[in-house]
Amino acid sequence: MSPLTIAIDGPSGSGKSVLAQALARRLGYRYLDTGALYRAVALAALRQGVPIDDPAALSRLAESLVLRIEPPVPDDGRQYTVLLDGEDVTWTLRTPEVERVVSAVAAVPGVRRALIAQQQRLAAGGGAVLAGRDIGTVVLPNAELKIYLDASPEVRARRRQQQLREQGIIQDYASVLADIHQRDQLDSTREAAPLRRAADAIEVRNETLTLDELVEHVMRLVEEQRRRFCSSRSP
Ligand code: DC
Repeated sequence: MSPLTIAIDGPSGSGKSVLAQALARRLGYRYLDTGALYRAVALAALRQGVPIDDPAALSRLAESLVLRIEPPVPDDGRQYTVLLDGEDVTWTLRTPEVERVVSAVAAVPGVRRALIAQQQRLAAGGGAVLAGRDIGTVVLPNAELKIYLDASPEVRARRRQQQLREQGIIQDYASVLADIHQRDQLDSTREAAPLRRAADAIEVRNETLTLDELVEHVMRLVEEQRRRFCSSRSP
C-alpha cells in the first residue's frame, strides 16, 4: 500500500506532537514536529542578539542556519534531537525564554519561507507525519489526510503545565493559561499562514480521550483514507 502524507495542525497544547509521533511509530513513517524549526530560529536569534522586531534580520538568520532533526538520542524522554549548527539544542528549545519570542519569530514571512522548503523536502514521497499550524493549509495542501486537533484553552493549559513540570519548570496555572491565550491570539491573527483549519481537514477534539483512544481513532481515519486512495489509484 502506498504510504500517505499526514498533516496534523492545531493550537499549542492540543497534543499534536504526541499524536504525530505515535502515528509515525505505528505506521513506520517519518515524523517532523515543525514547531521545533521555528523554536530553533527563535533560540538562535536570542543567542546572536538579533532583534525580534527586525523581520529582515530574522529572515537572513533563518536562511543561514543549518537545522537538522535526528533520531532521539540520548534516550532522555525526547521525541527527536534538534541540531542547530551542529549543537544539540533539543531541550533548550522548550525554555520559557524561547517560548516567549517564538510566535513573533514564526510570524515573519521570510522566516516561514526559509523553513517551508525544508518541511516539504522531508515529506516528499509520502510516508511522513508533519505536525504544526499551517501544514494542511500551506506546507502540504495535497496531504492525503489532514487532522485539525483541538481542545479548550483550559485543557491545553493543564497539559502544558504538566509538560513543563516534567522538564523541572514550575509555572502556575493562571500564567500558563495566559500564555496559551496570548499564543493563540498571535498564531491565529498573524498575516502569514495563520493557524486555521484547512477546509478538507477532519477536526478531532482531544479533551477526554486517552492517548491510546486518540491514536485508535486517528488510525481508523488513516485506514479509511488508505482505502480511498488505493481504490482511486487502481484502474
Ligand atoms: O508547536 P510549537 O509550540 O512548538 O510551536 C512553536 C511556535 O511556532 C508557535 O508560536 C507556532 C509556530 N509554528 C508555526 O507558526 N507554524 C508551524 N508549522 C509550527 C509552529
